[in-house]
Parts: sequence; C-alpha cells; structure tokens
Amino acid sequence: MRVGTKSVLYGAHALYLHPIAVLVAYSRLYAIPGDPRLLLGILTHDVGYWGMDRVEGEGSENHVELGGRIMDRLCGQPWGDHVRRHSRSWCDLHGQRYSRLCVADKLAFVLTPAWLYLPMARASGELAQYMAATDGQTRDGKFTETERSLLQSGDAKLWLKGLKSYTRRWVEQHRNDCDQARDMKPDCVKKLAVRAATS
Ligand SMILES: [Fe+2]
Ligand SMILES: [Fe+2]
Repeated sequence: MRVGTKSVLYGAHALYLHPIAVLVAYSRLYAIPGDPRLLLGILTHDVGYWGMDRVEGEGSENHVELGGRIMDRLCGQPWGDHVRRHSRSWCDLHGQRYSRLCVADKLAFVLTPAWLYLPMARASGELAQYMAATDGQTRDGKFTETERSLLQSGDAKLWLKGLKSYTRRWVEQHRNDCDQARDMKPDCVKKLAVRAATS
C-alpha cells in the first residue's frame, strides 16, 4: 500500500481524525464553521493523498486536486479553489493566496498531540519523509536557532517540537493574511477555469 493511502487510512491525514483537528483549529482561528460547504471542504481537502507515493516534496502538492475537483462539482469552483489553496506549496507554485483552510490546517498540526501524531505518522511511513524534508530546509533561514537544533536532533519528539514551534509562528503571521472562498477575485476564478480546461 502506498504511503499516501496509508496516510489517509491511519496516518497523519486519517480521514476520521485530521478533519476534526482542522475543524477545531478553524473554530479557534475564525469561527465555528456553519456553512456546509466549508465543512465538506474540511472533510475532503486531503483525500487526494490516496494512491500517492509521496506525502512531501515535489509533486505532493497535487494531493489538493481530488478534493478540489469534488468541491468544484458539488459546490462550485471558488470552493474547489478554497480547498486547493490549503496547500502552501500549491499556492506558491500557482501564485495564489493561502486560504483560511490552509492556516487552520497548519494549526491542526500544532494542536494534534505528539502521542497521537508520532505513532500514526510512523505507522504510515510518513514520518521519515517529513523529517528528511525539514532537514533539507534548515539552512533557508525560516527557522530560529532553537527550532533548527530541534529539527536536526534526529529525535522524532524533538523534531516535532521544533516544527510545531515554527508552524505556530507561521499561523500567527498568516491568520489574517488569507481569504475565504467568497473573497475569490473574478479574474482569479477565470484563470483557474482556463487552467482546468487546458490541463
Ligand atoms: Fe493537505
Ligand atoms: Fe490537512
């Protein structure tokens, strides 16, 4: 079974746990989601990991597409795009703003306790990919000295502490610098429609 599939079944993106963490995080950051389209987005945003070999690194940002397509069909393209924009790497690659779902998704990672996160991420085989990925990023200046030493410790618990510290800071920096589905600019919707039609 591929790592992405294991992630959705019993790993860091388990369908019965991760959306709950995102829901709690979204409620803390903004408001309790009352719109069923938002709830559906929270539920479907990571289902695209299913069948993927990698959950980190080049190409892994495409996991947003399945949830995005489901939301396109059921709720319209702005909602599909809101789900796509939950991935920082997808946004950076496509020049899009992060969505509120993106910030809530990162806070969900911070809120998930280590005793739950580490065994699940280890069982699915994701942990090694995540630790290797952050090891390659420790020179790019985004981490504090303390975070860097935790991330390079080679110890999973310390690594998680370092990454949560960085992610908590990232959430605070971006919680008000992101938008909702209804804030999509018409030209942005148009551009995405063209992209979908030609891909
Ligand atoms: Fe995701
Ligand atoms: Fe997620």
